[in-house]
Amino acid sequence: MKIKKIQEQKLEGRKVLMRVDLDVPIEDGKIQDVYRVESSKESIKYIASQKGVKLALLSHLGRPKDTRELVSEEAFDSHFSFRQMIQELQQIWGVKIRFVASLSEDLIKKELEKMQEGEVMLLENVRFYHEEMDNDESFARKLAKNFDFFVNESFAVAHREHMSIVGLPKFLPAFAGIHFQKEMEVLEKVKNHPEHPAVAVIGGAKIETKLPLIESFVENYDYVLVGGKIANEAIDQGLIFDKKVILPVDFANDDRLDIGEKTIEKFKDIISQAETIVWNGPLGKFEEEPFNRGTDEILDAIIESEAYSVTGGGESVQVLEMRGKIDKISFVSAGGGSMLQYMSSGDLAALDSLEEK
Ligand code: 3PG
Repeated sequence: MKIKKIQEQKLEGRKVLMRVDLDVPIEDGKIQDVYRVESSKESIKYIASQKGVKLALLSHLGRPKDTRELVSEEAFDSHFSFRQMIQELQQIWGVKIRFVASLSEDLIKKELEKMQEGEVMLLENVRFYHEEMDNDESFARKLAKNFDFFVNESFAVAHREHMSIVGLPKFLPAFAGIHFQKEMEVLEKVKNHPEHPAVAVIGGAKIETKLPLIESFVENYDYVLVGGKIANEAIDQGLIFDKKVILPVDFANDDRLDIGEKTIEKFKDIISQAETIVWNGPLGKFEEEPFNRGTDEILDAIIESEAYSVTGGGESVQVLEMRGKIDKISFVSAGGGSMLQYMSSGDLAALDSLEEK
């Protein structure tokens, strides 16, 4: 699939609205997962450096509960507001932010007029508006009025049929951001044309959501190594898999909170021969010692192997960040659910408007 790239469009003097990924855990006002935020830096720098361009960023944070009852700007819940992130975002992106606490068409128009050279506009959490998740067309039309182009640099939300993903491109020419392009290039390659032997390592919870992923890997991969809660669920449910799927042969304890020594050795042996490895989800209760052992040993085996390695998903990225090993993986996807969906089905809601037809 060929997608429309923002670098191929002349932007001089135009107004650009870019959807970015800012849905990150925040503790004591501090961003816990900078990787996602950093993923839009290149596009921000590129677009903002084009002559006379005015760039506004749109994103969501969390799932603010009462959006449907929201009636006024005063009701906005500060816990989900981007206001708390401004200082850190300025540092990470190296730009000055003009924060606009509303998506009102008139306010955005006025603020765009006031924008100074070197400033980037950041709009308030789009999920404060029920129209976002309702994919409200008239809301998208109004929001689009102040802009000439739409850029999707939000791979983590690419699977959602939301206003800021599929609605805005109905009213603005749409392009993929630089990181989004890389996501597609890498994931399409490892999904459809991996170098062999290709090994998928799948852990985490909720077997229902991971089953399509396991089945999809069975098609193009040589081994699918399964651990974590999903392995227990699969065993308990008596699920039968293709012979490429390897379930744990032992566990660390009776509660099966981690894969056992023999399984670790078996998985490591397969990983050491791989040319491609995709890893998603921890193999045990990694946040509690000693049940982090399986995940840590398998992660080290992935890093030590010669393989091209790809990972994604909230918990996997969390493990990498906790261990300071994020740069040891060849490609880290900013997506969680979106990466799983693309790897399982090969499709995402956002792609329709970004595809070159
Ligand atoms: C994610 O964290 O996977 C994305 O930001 C999507 O968030 P959502 O599951 O709340 O739509």
